[in-house]
Amino acid sequence: MRLSDCHNFHDFRELARRRLPGPIFNYIDGGADDEATLRQNTASFERCDLVPNVLRGVENVDLSVSVMGQKLATPFYCSPTALQRLFHHQGERAVAAAAAKYGTMFGVSSLGTTSLEELRKAHDTPQVYQFYFHRDRSLNSAMMQRAKQAGVNVMMLTVDSITGGNRERDLRTGFSIPFRLTLGGMLQFAIKPAWAINYLTHESFKLPQLDEHVDMSGGAMSIGRYFTEMLDPAMRWDDVADMVRQWNGQFCLKGIISVEDAKRAVEIGCTGIILSNHGGRQLDGSRAAFDQLAEIVDAVGDRIDVMMDGGIQRGTHVLKALSLGAKAVGLGRFYLYPLASAGQAGVERALGLMQAELVRDMRLMGCSSISQLSRANLRFR
Ligand code: LAC
Repeated sequence: MRLSDCHNFHDFRELARRRLPGPIFNYIDGGADDEATLRQNTASFERCDLVPNVLRGVENVDLSVSVMGQKLATPFYCSPTALQRLFHHQGERAVAAAAAKYGTMFGVSSLGTTSLEELRKAHDTPQVYQFYFHRDRSLNSAMMQRAKQAGVNVMMLTVDSITGGNRERDLRTGFSIPFRLTLGGMLQFAIKPAWAINYLTHESFKLPQLDEHVDMSGGAMSIGRYFTEMLDPAMRWDDVADMVRQWNGQFCLKGIISVEDAKRAVEIGCTGIILSNHGGRQLDGSRAAFDQLAEIVDAVGDRIDVMMDGGIQRGTHVLKALSLGAKAVGLGRFYLYPLASAGQAGVERALGLMQAELVRDMRLMGCSSISQLSRANLRFR
């Protein structure tokens, strides 16, 4: 199987599965508990149908949107995700370059393996910095200042991860950073020598957003342990209100599901919210973002930019979310499997396929600009 054999999400997932050591593939692929929310995220798009119009002159299709003060050439962006150089040695560099090629926004994670400054210098496309609220308040201020200085466009605080989700696949394999694997996990690495050679012959693993502040050398740190030990479960709305004031720019919360929280985000001055359940990786049983979208758009959509992520695998999923009122949607695994499969070429192919699907689907819907999509285009079953 080669990159040219990949025509959709499932093909990339399969190629990534073949190329990655099991523990890494399962870290990306897995969710929390029984993975019910993970499955619902994609299933939720099947609960409604598109109602197309015809004969509307759709030779030119404009996919551009404006969200949180940023102009994007496509209504999808690359959500921030952790540890990308573990999946492919090009890591964040590949994702940022591919996002730039398609004129869209990309996120850099606090747990990123390339520095936000380097990525900021490399591309002009809007950059989001994904932020976790640490127990150490001075660390939070220092990290925000650093992001401001670097020229980050949008601050994105993750609010659904104040403790680690129960990811049983990782418990089985022993996935952690740096690696401390179970015997079975080690065997999985031994049978993927191409990945191992690549990993070992490139720049060593680092977490440049954190390593000035956090000592990750004292033994293996699982993602669950980082969340649970480093992040502050005491975080409250007042703390975030302070951060919003300190940042004094585009500030969004990622991981909002309830209408009440969406309203509070407006009250404290956030400019965006991302409906998200963290790709089904945190609270299993949590509602899919798409299922919750209409309710939240109705409550706050005129006062704040509403976005969503979770389960998006197709152009039609994007169109359904936009029809309900999302301003843009985030992709996660959608670009991570391509990254793992083939680095920058993989991510570019995946984003290119998504863009082509959207142009085709918009034409088939009878729409030539995103603003023409509305709830009139949807029927729930
Ligand atoms: C995860 C974190 C790091 O889902 O976002 O693994």
